[in-house]
Amino acid sequence: MSRHTPTQPPPMDHSSVIGEILGDQQQKRRRPEPTAIVIFGATGDLTSRKLAPALFNVMLDRALTEPTVIIGVSRGELTVPQFAAKLEPAVRQHSRQKVEVAAWDKFAGMLDFVGGEFADDETYIKLKARLEAAKAKGSRGNRLFYLSTPPAVFPLILEKLHEHELIERAQQRGAGASCRVIVEKPFGHDLPSARALNEMIATHLTESQIYRIDHYLGKETVQNILVLRFGNSIFEPIWNRNHIDFVEITAAETIGIEGRGNFYEATGVVRDIIQNHLLQVMSLVTMEVPASFAADDIRDEKSQVLRSVRSLTLNEVANDCVRGQYRGYRDEPGVAPSSQTPTFASMKLMIDSWRWQGVPFYLRAGKKLAERLTEISIHFKSVPLVLFKDEAAGSVLQPAVLTLRIQPHEGISLRFVAKVPGENINVGNVVMTMAYADAFKRPISEAYERLLLDCMRGDATLFNRRDSVDRAWELIQPVLQVWEATPGVHMYDPGTNGPEASDDLMKRDGRMWRELIAQPPVVEK
Ligand code: BG6
Repeated sequence: MSRHTPTQPPPMDHSSVIGEILGDQQQKRRRPEPTAIVIFGATGDLTSRKLAPALFNVMLDRALTEPTVIIGVSRGELTVPQFAAKLEPAVRQHSRQKVEVAAWDKFAGMLDFVGGEFADDETYIKLKARLEAAKAKGSRGNRLFYLSTPPAVFPLILEKLHEHELIERAQQRGAGASCRVIVEKPFGHDLPSARALNEMIATHLTESQIYRIDHYLGKETVQNILVLRFGNSIFEPIWNRNHIDFVEITAAETIGIEGRGNFYEATGVVRDIIQNHLLQVMSLVTMEVPASFAADDIRDEKSQVLRSVRSLTLNEVANDCVRGQYRGYRDEPGVAPSSQTPTFASMKLMIDSWRWQGVPFYLRAGKKLAERLTEISIHFKSVPLVLFKDEAAGSVLQPAVLTLRIQPHEGISLRFVAKVPGENINVGNVVMTMAYADAFKRPISEAYERLLLDCMRGDATLFNRRDSVDRAWELIQPVLQVWEATPGVHMYDPGTNGPEASDDLMKRDGRMWRELIAQPPVVEK
């Protein structure tokens, strides 16, 4: 990079620009109240890989108010030092900031542990005593229960918490102490079980105490969808069926099921990624302009657009939805030798609204694919070819594509055509890119950091409301119904783009999926 002299303007520091437009959210956001955080499933994978590293990092960022106490609840008898020792290597591996000895000691000092079965009253009696101890330390009775267990035990844990008077409906609590519950996805197993779970939780807690988490909503790049759309006057006027030809939303992973065979057999990619992460992303891309950025204004619009997504008929499931399974999945521990569980799915959805009528939304998600890549691509309509009929015959004059890269190499790129230098009017595709890493000189925090803090602050904007979870299940229910009743999963090789049938879904409509290329976009030749 060239050095600038006093006669040249200094390079733009984008971080100061953010302050002017949005206010410095980082500084403006208030610290949460001191809280006792109770994690059910504390020796599980999610706690080690995500929750503990997230809490460690928010502690390092001084975003927590002391005393914050983290009480792990799990089967098996561990002492508190054993619990800390179990978490330490995972936090070292997954923390985005360095784990210094003094910082770790401080974090370990916040930990507590209750060992026991979730069905045993004894577990809750011990937990009650630990919560009392946390209150005596200064947590003021604020409590946050994180259900990071298999979904099947959510109702049991909630019933027990209620029986032991560890959770209470908001209006019955005195002195302003908070009592909130974070419920991990998948929220339920299908539409009836999600409805039953919602009903059951609602008997013990008010909606404002229930935080249905979808960690995609905590990703900076997912939140940026709204800022891009509504913070710039150039996008909203063209964000509709008059200008947009189709939209692709991809969540591709290179990893497999990572030893979670039992969980994955009962889940599959539709419940694991599409019902929640991809439909949430789709709702942010397609929702109408909210009245404000307040939690319920945003959630109203997201819910509204999900209601306008056309429900799939059983025939449409057969024609417009593709399921795949990577070769080797059936050899994973915990997986049935003739399993039909999809590890890949792609599907076409339509939205029956004034804005989106006739614009197909192609969703795809899968494990063991060629690249790890999550992105949204908005494909604009083509220009009338008459202007360029000689020069651009064939594939050169491709319509513009706006790509919002959720991960990795977070950023936004716009592919459009430009004149190739020379005497003739030849056109070539070029790509203009904004990379978060270059634009803002600040680290991107992990989704769970943001979401845990938001919950402690009582901000539910980035959590799912009952109606939208319900609608998302309604939408995928026909897919589950057909796929679970009839075998027919397409096999694909690990390291590829998924089964050919998925390419055919696009080809039939005269389109192609974007290549799975995780590298930052470069100028196309
Ligand atoms: C989780 C799924 O919700 O999301 C996992 O259960 C998946 O199967 C993960 O690997 C992907 O999250 P991310 O943040 O790595 O894209």
